[in-house]
Amino acid sequence: MDLLGKPVADAIFEKQKPKIKEMLAGGVVPKIAVIRTMNDEPSVRYFNSIKKKFEKYGCECYAITKELQNTYDLKEELRRCSEDDSIHGVLVQRPLPKTVNVVDTLGVLSPQKDIEGLTPYNLAKLFTNKEFFTPCTAEAVIELLEYYGVEMESRRVVILGRSISVGKPLTLMFLNRNATVTVCHSRTEDISSITKEADILVSSVGVARFVKDYMVKKGSVIIDVGMNSKNGKLVGDVDYEEVKDIVSMITPVPGGVGPVTVAVLLKNLVKAVEMNIHD
Ligand SMILES: NC(=O)c1ccc[n+]([C@@H]2O[C@H](COP(=O)([O-])OP(=O)(O)OC[C@H]3O[C@@H](n4cnc5c(N)ncnc54)[C@H](OP(=O)(O)O)[C@@H]3O)[C@@H](O)[C@H]2O)c1
Repeated sequence: MDLLGKPVADAIFEKQKPKIKEMLAGGVVPKIAVIRTMNDEPSVRYFNSIKKKFEKYGCECYAITKELQNTYDLKEELRRCSEDDSIHGVLVQRPLPKTVNVVDTLGVLSPQKDIEGLTPYNLAKLFTNKEFFTPCTAEAVIELLEYYGVEMESRRVVILGRSISVGKPLTLMFLNRNATVTVCHSRTEDISSITKEADILVSSVGVARFVKDYMVKKGSVIIDVGMNSKNGKLVGDVDYEEVKDIVSMITPVPGGVGPVTVAVLLKNLVKAVEMNIHD
């Protein structure tokens, strides 16, 4: 069975509609600032897709396209966004130039505007099982599993990848839901012996068709976070054709995790406005 992202995303968007309506009626337009440093085609396309969705639901989305030379420049931009009362949420679009280290800047952003869940405050919340804002892609994985009724408690979960925005937060989110979690990365030996044990396998390595048939357990659930370009086509980390008849559920690429990530971003923006109103 394909775990399609669209119904999950639509359900999240629908839930936000009445909240946004109320905000607009009260004269508040939820507004996200997207700091975009690269003007390459995928970055612009991703920004435009977010903007279209956000505007459809009555929110404002604008790009800060200033050229950032270094980490200090990004810190300054985040400081400005934190102080600007018209901005409710901030997204730092990746990739960033090599001279900018996003991790070193995150303490500057107000945790209430950190809708990507990457500031130390929000990471500490995640760490202590008091999730507040969590990284959107990681949250999208959990939303997908919950929507399709996949039990997480006591299941063996294997995560491929340990990035700060996907693999690491997901590890904690699964632990918070009482799963037993193993994380693999580029130094892990004999990965297939580990992935074969997974009831739920999440792949976020960024390598096209990395997960093959001999790596998955029969009847398992596969979440493919990967978005890789291969011969001009968008493909996942999982070799869908090889594994689809072995596993019980799998997210396609495109059409799986991606749309849910955008919906979670909007959900978090709405939550940021609510926090602001009730402050
Ligand atoms: N669907 C969405 O909404 C969404 C959102 C974000 C990202 N993505 C996609 O998800 C993928 C991962 O993104 P990311 O930002 O997490 O990437 P990343 O920061 O590059 O991290 C990749 C991780 O995979 C590990 N890895 C790389 N090659 C490996 C290999 N051959 N064997 C085992 N582990 C390997 C790396 O290990 P080391 O730590 O040892 O280097 C690292 O932990 C990309 O395709 C990206 O485009 C999708």
